[in-house]
Amino acid sequence: MRRRTIQPFFRETELQKTDLVMPVFVDESISAPLAIPSMPGQFRHPVDGVADYCERLRDAGIGAVILFGIPAKKDSEATEAYAPDGVVQRAIRSIRERLPGMVITTDVCACEYTDHGHCGIIGETVDGPDLENDLSLELMARIALSHAENGADIVAPSCMLDGMVKTIREALDAAGYQDTLIMSYSSKFASALYGPFRDAADSGFSFGDRTTYQIDPGNAREAIMESELDVAEGADILMVKPAGIYLDILASVAGFGLPVAAYQVSGEYAMIKAAGERGWLDERAVALESLVAIKRAGADLIITYFAEDVARWFNEE
Ligand code: PBG
Ligand code: ZN
Repeated sequence: MRRRTIQPFFRETELQKTDLVMPVFVDESISAPLAIPSMPGQFRHPVDGVADYCERLRDAGIGAVILFGIPAKKDSEATEAYAPDGVVQRAIRSIRERLPGMVITTDVCACEYTDHGHCGIIGETVDGPDLENDLSLELMARIALSHAENGADIVAPSCMLDGMVKTIREALDAAGYQDTLIMSYSSKFASALYGPFRDAADSGFSFGDRTTYQIDPGNAREAIMESELDVAEGADILMVKPAGIYLDILASVAGFGLPVAAYQVSGEYAMIKAAGERGWLDERAVALESLVAIKRAGADLIITYFAEDVARWFNEE
């Protein structure tokens, strides 16, 4: 037995609003927020509504976002991903203008911008069409640079290409963006938990899968080595994704010394939400428990669709 009044002295891990990063979907083709069916409570935002939404987040106490863009047109080379007036470029500028203190992170990938839905440029391999690593690297450098030019604080390459961090670091430095940070999706598993996101960001693929460039869920050593490689390439922040069922990997990667982000992905959110809606689980309690567990395992920052809800729950207390 321990007296309730003494419990706080013994609490080792406490979740804070400043640990959280909210994913924000910006859709070039809409004029009002559009609900995402597979992620109840989440919306795509129009470009001219994204600053209002971020202001609401800021007012609730969430000071960091990660942006995902849904362009009006897609092509095989993802040209809209680095267009000067692309959806993310415009979103960054409008958030930056309204909220100078907001930490703006951008997802650097091609899958929302390619008509085939893969994370880069496709070439022919012996097994048929698949990602072409080196051409795709050039594309990632262009996308990251364009985000930095428009005011992103942190660029987050999520394509899992070999050499992506080094290529992006060199491109940013050469253009004078030494202070733009790179948060690498360094240990990213080929997970079925990204399912709802593909609805949210319209990034489903038309052939194949992502198992040739994302990590096999059974591979711990490989996942840890992928993060090690990104340290050597100059990453500023590492990431483990998904979060909740990969806490062993998170705990190992946290030992490297660099800040580590954990991404509680769309499927993790959807499972808790769905059970909560049916009355099978207490949504709030399970969401908070899942996030505290992620922090306990070593995450310095947590990307989660619950960020805004958590801020409101804390504000009510
Ligand atoms: C883009 C990207 C994905 C996610 C984040 N960035 C999809 C994927 O890799 O297939 C998933 C996020 C989520 O499920 O919430 N590469
Ligand atoms: Zn992608």
